[in-house]
Amino acid sequence: MHLHKYEKIWLAFGIGSLILFLVIVGINAFVTGHQPPSSDKTVDPQVVGEIAPFNKPGLKKIGKNEYQLVVLTSAFSFDVGTQDKVVEIPKGAKVHIIATTKDVVHGFEIAGTNANMMLEPGHISETTQTFREEGEFTLLCNEYCGSGHHLMHAKIKVVDQS
Ligand code: CUA
Repeated sequence: MHLHKYEKIWLAFGIGSLILFLVIVGINAFVTGHQPPSSDKTVDPQVVGEIAPFNKPGLKKIGKNEYQLVVLTSAFSFDVGTQDKVVEIPKGAKVHIIATTKDVVHGFEIAGTNANMMLEPGHISETTQTFREEGEFTLLCNEYCGSGHHLMHAKIKVVDQS
């Protein structure tokens, strides 16, 4: 098969840019810590509110500068264990987030961080996030879940306690 010189150049350019694209995406995913969602643990959504740890949502200290944040969602709210839906987290803390939903599919996104999960009834979604910067982060639902979807939010307040 004869290939014209320009065809060869164009072919090499096409294959080269595809490889370059995959390398950039791969490195970027690795550096910024992307990972597939983990929702392989299951729970009965009918009675999840009575099952530990979802019977007591909120922040718990589990080690030196290490916390567990349990969140139970339902249409249309995030139960983060506080009345005002604000969770205070010490700056630099590593937080293991465990969340699920009682009813329909909800989203779990802490805007400006890598914490972004889909919550499915019957499944437990988990992620770990270290809050290195002080400030307020909005926890929001990013899966359309009904008429009150836009009302679903809570707040993560990262405070410097040193
Ligand atoms: Cu919950 Cu949208």
